[in-house]
Amino acid sequence: MSDKKTGPTRPLRSARWFRKDDLPGFVHRSTLAAAGWSREDLMTRPVVGILNTWSDINPCNLNLRALAEEVRTGILEAGGIPFEVPLMSISENIIKPTSFPFRNLLAMEAEECIRAYPFDAVVLLGGCDKTQPGLLMGAASAGVPLIFLGSGPATPRSATGGDLANATGVWRLVDQLRAGKVSEGDFAAFERCVMGTVGHCAEMGTASSMATICEALGVSLPGSSLIPAVDRRRNLYAREVGRRSVRMAAKGSPRPNEILDARAFDNAITLLCAVGGSTNVIIHLLALAGRVGVPLTLDRFDEIGRRVPLIANVQPAGEHLTERLMTAGGVPALLKTLKPFLHLDARTVDGCTIGEIIETAEVIDADVIRPLDNPVRSGETLVVVRGNLAPDGAVMKACAADPKLFRHRGRAVVFEDVQTIADRIDDPELDIDENSVLILRNAGPVGAAMPEWGMLPLPCHLLARGVRDMLRISDARMSGTAYGAAVLHVSPEAAVGGPLALVRDGDIIELDVPARRLELCVAPEELERRRQAWQPPAPKHTRGYRNLYNQHVEQAHRGCDFDFLRGANEETLPEGLFDGWVGGW
Ligand code: FES
Repeated sequence: MSDKKTGPTRPLRSARWFRKDDLPGFVHRSTLAAAGWSREDLMTRPVVGILNTWSDINPCNLNLRALAEEVRTGILEAGGIPFEVPLMSISENIIKPTSFPFRNLLAMEAEECIRAYPFDAVVLLGGCDKTQPGLLMGAASAGVPLIFLGSGPATPRSATGGDLANATGVWRLVDQLRAGKVSEGDFAAFERCVMGTVGHCAEMGTASSMATICEALGVSLPGSSLIPAVDRRRNLYAREVGRRSVRMAAKGSPRPNEILDARAFDNAITLLCAVGGSTNVIIHLLALAGRVGVPLTLDRFDEIGRRVPLIANVQPAGEHLTERLMTAGGVPALLKTLKPFLHLDARTVDGCTIGEIIETAEVIDADVIRPLDNPVRSGETLVVVRGNLAPDGAVMKACAADPKLFRHRGRAVVFEDVQTIADRIDDPELDIDENSVLILRNAGPVGAAMPEWGMLPLPCHLLARGVRDMLRISDARMSGTAYGAAVLHVSPEAAVGGPLALVRDGDIIELDVPARRLELCVAPEELERRRQAWQPPAPKHTRGYRNLYNQHVEQAHRGCDFDFLRGANEETLPEGLFDGWVGGW
């Protein structure tokens, strides 16, 4: 049986656990009798897993426990059986040395959890920005129907009211503090209100970018992504997510690869460009595409980026926080404006196509969601550059950079690691001026698990002179809330012998954004001499997860997933685990 919108009805996975009159069936049912579920429940109702990344050390996800209760209620209302499973909670600002490697760990945990338990569908509850892609990657590989609900943006307020305090404001204030233009007292007042409430970062940082593109990918309910974490409408969405998940569980459809196809990724990239979203999302989308067999490359981001204007007037590229974007019409209204660029027949977990979703959408505030012919800023938002310094590509958030630096030649000032920056950037002896090109290396996936160090600080004496942007190049990532002329994700990275490892102080670097070129202007023979002399850094980790990570993480242009995790999991649990009178206790 099948219908046009939701696809075929498939046998329940959970039936293998519960719908058999043998010893394994007895063991499974009797075990869950202790949790209050009857034989009849388990033999007749679909099962939904609620994968929750709540933790009280992670305020971005702090409301997920309450939302899980609403999801649970929705599942019960629709006749399903909910089971909530706590998964790793990754707090961007708290976890060390950097949150990024834990995305893959969460993805593995989510995948194995889904495969190992009798879930017919899963609801994914994420918020802080590595929890979203980690859950999606794992669930995509596990292959059962999924639906994503985010914690929602926080609602920060400035010390004097209004909506001025946010993470992007932090970066600007830090520069002003270092330039001596803001007092320590004002900075401390800012500290007390910058996060404001539970919920993830409230500008178009990585979390809001991921949340919004989940609607364009078709894995979230339309209109759900930008409702603030503290807004009760999010609870109503959570209940509807629960109800919807039961319909998906009962049908075993749509499976992740029936939603996450090439059309869905194109739509997501289109929205990412239109909102001036985070460069981190590029990495996450590449990794997610790898899980479902979509051959996505960096070039596709550049192709789409060339035609899609920045139409969402939100920080860091624009003026407002994401709450204004929601009241302006939210993602459905953005997608309606972007209609000429979209695959309207792409399917969603809502059961409708993207084209059907945007039929009823409306732009309420044309200053916040601009028409295509009146963008927030002209030019591209995200660009991909290549050259002898980045043979496999590097990315730049052009809409957050000073356009004066789009064609630039300057002398390299090289930092081997973040500690060297801290030690040297304000050294009066450092030979640097506003035309210099700041280079940070050994901060890629293998070098340092790719922390968000790409927005290198500018020297205090240049800040005090009013310099606000300089060209910075690294194999690191950059916070989605940050800004500046930062060429990021240089691939291959320095720690595996990429050309970034060969740059020396004083070398001329040339960036040409319109031509998409990034060149190290050193003669090939000299580069070859340096390559021969280069020694790989000694491995920093010889045991545990970080050792596994360093051995198997892929380069940035492939999404930094593990090489052994690409593709869906074809393995099925053997029938012997479910049949007969053996096994169990
Ligand atoms: Fe959690 Fe920004 S710190 S989303």
